[in-house]
Amino acid sequence: MSEALPFDEKYSDGLQRYIDYYNKSVEDIEEFWDGRARELIWIRYWDQVLDRSNPPFYRWFVGGYTNINLNALDRWVGKSSENKVAYYWIGEDDSKRTISYGELYREVNRFAYVLKEYIGVSRGDTVTIYLPMIPELPISMLALTRLGAIHSVVFSGFSSGALADRIVDAKSKVVITADGFYRRGNIVNLKDRVDEAILDAGEKGVDVEKVIVVKRLDGNIKMHLNRDIWYHELLSEAPNKVYVKPAEMKAIDTLFILYTSGTTGKPKGIMHSIGGYMTYIYNVFRWNWDPSPEDIYWCAADIGWITGHTYIVYAPLMHNMTSIMYEGAPDHPKPDRIWRIIEEYSVSTFYTSPTLLRLLMKYGDKWVENIDLSSLKILGTVGEPINPEVWRWYFNKIGGGRCPIVDTWWQTETGAAMISPAPGLSLVPLKPGSATLPLPGIVADVVREDGGKAEPGEKGYLVIKEPWPGMLMGLWGDPARYIEVYWSRYSDQDRGVWIYYPADYALRDGDGYFWMLGRADEVLKVAGHRIGTIELEDAIISHPAVSEAAVVGFPDPVKGELPVAVVTLKMGVEPSEELADEIKDYVRKFIGPIATPKKVIFVSKLPKTRSGKIMRRIIISMLQGKPIGDVSTLEDPKAVEELEEAIEGMRHTF
Ligand code: WT7
Repeated sequence: MSEALPFDEKYSDGLQRYIDYYNKSVEDIEEFWDGRARELIWIRYWDQVLDRSNPPFYRWFVGGYTNINLNALDRWVGKSSENKVAYYWIGEDDSKRTISYGELYREVNRFAYVLKEYIGVSRGDTVTIYLPMIPELPISMLALTRLGAIHSVVFSGFSSGALADRIVDAKSKVVITADGFYRRGNIVNLKDRVDEAILDAGEKGVDVEKVIVVKRLDGNIKMHLNRDIWYHELLSEAPNKVYVKPAEMKAIDTLFILYTSGTTGKPKGIMHSIGGYMTYIYNVFRWNWDPSPEDIYWCAADIGWITGHTYIVYAPLMHNMTSIMYEGAPDHPKPDRIWRIIEEYSVSTFYTSPTLLRLLMKYGDKWVENIDLSSLKILGTVGEPINPEVWRWYFNKIGGGRCPIVDTWWQTETGAAMISPAPGLSLVPLKPGSATLPLPGIVADVVREDGGKAEPGEKGYLVIKEPWPGMLMGLWGDPARYIEVYWSRYSDQDRGVWIYYPADYALRDGDGYFWMLGRADEVLKVAGHRIGTIELEDAIISHPAVSEAAVVGFPDPVKGELPVAVVTLKMGVEPSEELADEIKDYVRKFIGPIATPKKVIFVSKLPKTRSGKIMRRIIISMLQGKPIGDVSTLEDPKAVEELEEAIEGMRHTF
């Protein structure tokens, strides 16, 4: 599967150097991470690197104290590094802001001051942030973590209902939002959704007391007396050069919660620690991007997802890097928007998703051809497997054959990349479509259904066999689910063997390289984002016309996969194309545009087992025109015939 790439020679000893370093790192992971953590600023060092006494609730750097602000901000002020640009911000409407480390530091201190003095935010509080890609988003995150409060950032593309669920689960009394923002030239009225979500949350027993509103647009919105306050008015209460001492936080305290989808209707609040997360992402960032001071770095994700938390906010700031932050759609006003930004700012490191690459590739090479991309040095991808042809296009067309492709496998739960090339350490030979090998300190493998080691080339399940500092600490308010979802499948708890189960298919080739083969649970990856099929089904079922729903993923050339819903209707409701559109729109409003089903297929009965479990596997095979396999457990064969007819009848529309 290997093939020669132009720069292999330059890194000819890369594999051996990697192997030596890696082997040493996993000989004694505690010792390894101990050394790695000492490169950072701590208020007090730890007594114990890793507390293994209560697995799977591993705790890193126990007894240690720090605040991530010390490493991301305070460290850079009072010397020349404070003049370095932290963010070049570009609005979709092409408005621009340049923010230095010194300015960021002052704004964070001022915001932390008013949050504490006027809003009453203190250590341990959970605050929900629902902001678009504007500088006030990282400012809010840093101000909160400076105070020791826990942020829960909700992606600004989520609906009011999804926001309400997350406010309720996190029990947030304070929400930070904006009047709106631009998306594809349109105005998104974010604050309307917040108002709705707060009503909704109130009914579910959580009363939001304060809403801080950043003015991104003209500010022409309804403000609720005594509840809503403008960010700029609040900030004007802060003395200009106010200093707020970073709260002395335990390494094992929670830095943030970030919700992600699982296999039930209820999103999971992934909890990350302060000391472990900080240590892990700092090191991985360096291994991934080989940063140097003159680099211009662009992770083109949204901060509403973990990629943005780690690779736009915390890790680049901890490295004193200059980042691009772009508000808008990647193809607005034209498909060359991304490439033009790279050219204009001489971006050296660019990190994005296969979905975006497939979209831009589809627009055609003419949008890239006259653009100077020679500043690029390293290219990255994340979120889904990258098809080898897209990999090659990225490598040749965008990277001019000079830039290693850093395909990073990881999850919201893992904090930062775990399996990926590491040009900042030692670049191993690349293979298009493979995330290559585990990063130092990471013990990964592929196992069979029964837990036995898979042979080279054999598809199995990815497992992680040792804890790592970037690991989640648990699920917010749900320790049982944490054990059940991640640590039950392959652990042998009686024998004290704990194995982390990411729910990904993978295989290792003869060289030990990892090839990621997609999710192994009932979670879809739409444009690189996780959406639970049950979450989608719950949304569809809440539509008044719907009785039952089964959702599966259908392959899509750009977005990887898209949801397809098979639906039964309530007695007396007739299927129609209008109703199908209505249901699509309903899901869109219920969860957010990323959840919109591609198709809604009406049947009178879902294919189920005799015990009543929906047989999604059959639906998937039928949609893909493949044999449906074993149907011996099927309750009613007629359901399959009817579904087959329905699918064949609309096949031409797929
Ligand atoms: C899932 C995690 C991690 C930030 C973005 C997504 C899939 C992620 C890759 C990759 C193949 C990948 C996995 C994983 N995934 N990166 N390089 N190659 N698959 O975070 O929403 O938590 O999703 O994304 O299926 O489990 P997430």
